[in-house]
Amino acid sequence: MCMIMNEKTEEFLKVLKSRRSVRAYSGRMLDRDALKKLLDAAILAPTAMHEEPWAFSLIHDRDLLKKISDLAKPIFFERLHRSGRVVDASPDFDIFHGAGTLLVISSKHSGPFVDADCWLAAENLMLAACAWGIGSCVIGSALPALEIPEVKSSIGIPAEYRPIAPIILGYPQGETPATSRKPPHILSWI
Ligand SMILES: Cc1cc2nc3c(=O)[nH]c(=O)nc-3n(C[C@H](O)[C@H](O)[C@H](O)COP(=O)(O)O)c2cc1C
Repeated sequence: MCMIMNEKTEEFLKVLKSRRSVRAYSGRMLDRDALKKLLDAAILAPTAMHEEPWAFSLIHDRDLLKKISDLAKPIFFERLHRSGRVVDASPDFDIFHGAGTLLVISSKHSGPFVDADCWLAAENLMLAACAWGIGSCVIGSALPALEIPEVKSSIGIPAEYRPIAPIILGYPQGETPATSRKPPHILSWI
């Protein structure tokens, strides 16, 4: 059962409200302990049939990140172009926003809830990161490149695994303004 204690509830809500998708990072790298704590938080997520289908890859190699960004950009821009959207296509644009770490949550499992499990682990990890002053941002635009067999193998993801949730991590540079949300769209309240 979840413990409800007023002070802790407030602290928890503060973390929920202050999480942002961070797109500006200082050069300071995350150390091993910080990354270990984030992974320990990720695996506390709920998981269908208690399958725990997630697996984690951590990439800190900036040259490798640049190569993946360069591969990911044209694929992503082409898809956006086809859907009629305009994006920053400048050659210097880094799809990973200068973050020093890319974390990829993958799975070799199949089933209707595998992706949900991995995304729940991702959200746990991003909230824990926020609580510890670490910035994060999901980089869905990198997924098509991460699915390329050569790219997968270059970052140590075995062929039988499927990348699901790419997340950049690092210490934020400056403040990230809050984004707005529409009010909850309630379909029924019976
Ligand atoms: C599945 C998913 C994919 C996303 N992909 C990207 C991305 O490729 N690049 C990026 O900068 N932000 C990406 N984001 C972050 C969203 O743009 C961001 O969550 C949204 O604008 C709301 O802002 P907030 O997270 O700061 O509240 C992604 C978020 C999700 C959930």
